[in-house]
Amino acid sequence: MKTERIVIENKEYPEEELLKKPAEILKNGGLVAFPTETVYGLGANALNEEAAGKIYKAKGRPSDNPLIAHIADFSDLNPLVSRIPEAGKKLMEAFWPGPLTLVFPKSGLVPYGTTGGLDTVAVRMPADPIANALIRLAGVPVAAPSANTSGRPSPTTADHVWQDMDGKIDMILDGGAVGIGVESTIIDVSGEEPVILRPGAVTQEMASGVLGQEIHLDPAIVSGPMKDGIRPKAPGMKYKHYAPKAELTLVDGDGKDVVRTINNLTEEKLSKGFKVGIICTEETKDNYPRGIVRSLGTRTKEETIAHSLYSVLREFDDQEADYIYSESFSRDHLGQAIMNRLVKAAGYHIIGT
Ligand code: TXA
Ligand code: MG
Repeated sequence: MKTERIVIENKEYPEEELLKKPAEILKNGGLVAFPTETVYGLGANALNEEAAGKIYKAKGRPSDNPLIAHIADFSDLNPLVSRIPEAGKKLMEAFWPGPLTLVFPKSGLVPYGTTGGLDTVAVRMPADPIANALIRLAGVPVAAPSANTSGRPSPTTADHVWQDMDGKIDMILDGGAVGIGVESTIIDVSGEEPVILRPGAVTQEMASGVLGQEIHLDPAIVSGPMKDGIRPKAPGMKYKHYAPKAELTLVDGDGKDVVRTINNLTEEKLSKGFKVGIICTEETKDNYPRGIVRSLGTRTKEETIAHSLYSVLREFDDQEADYIYSESFSRDHLGQAIMNRLVKAAGYHIIGT
């Protein structure tokens, strides 16, 4: 299949003329990758089981891993769900459009091919103007996982999508680099108590504030999946998801000790002829004399860290690093999402100092 690429220059007010063809492709059961404010998505008509099936094939994704249905307006939600619980109402009023996905009991309209056989459906209304205009023009809810090959870091630029999807999908809309860089927060509001299934830019504090009660994380996020028989409620969280090709180790501890430990480990691997990558910050980058050193940004602004995380992981893939050592981050606020992704990328391999 030949994959067409369309560049959208005006990201705030995308020209409708440019979006007509991709909208038509979506409506007719094809695949279009598009930018959202979190990561690039790989879109298909969420109501068309066959189209959703193509997503699993292009990504090489296990078919029990459900997809998020993306909508353009509040009025698009009702047909997809059988009930809107009070917590869901409050959260969507506060954070939609935006980086929040809510899990509702599904209606009969949504095929099991989209929900991975579940009786619930995950729904998100993205704030990105290109995503919003595309979904509105398509006139159908758009199922969209991150537009990466299953097991690779999520794409934050159209080039990342191109690397993984060229020849496998109909079209890529290039809207430049995304804003946030990590996937949306997922909150399940279908049960008695709302639960965070995946941390993201809508933080635990923000959601708790809106609900007027402490909202908890799915225990599988805290302990690591499959430990103590705990199964994650978001099926996707059980896979080793954001995995770089190199063996990634997170080094936790006091600043100076972390630098010393990473330098020692780097030296040891370099002496054996391996290629080593180091993930650090603006504050520490000058303390690493050897290895391929990449700063994610400044610790004083977590947004910069989230924004470059996947890009740096992909860069180490391209450079064919054998080992990556990463500093660790505070788990407060957006740090919760950053550490969740890093810990998973490391396959839960963390060492203290
Ligand atoms: O930011 C995002 O959410 C991006 C952009 C493209 O919108 N999308 C994204 O989709 O990250 P994906 O497929 O890579 O991750 C969706 C996660 C998976 O872990 C999946 O298991 C979970 O959402 N999920 C989907 N439907 C669910 C449901 N009904 N119940 C529980 N978890 C669900
Ligand atoms: Mg994904």
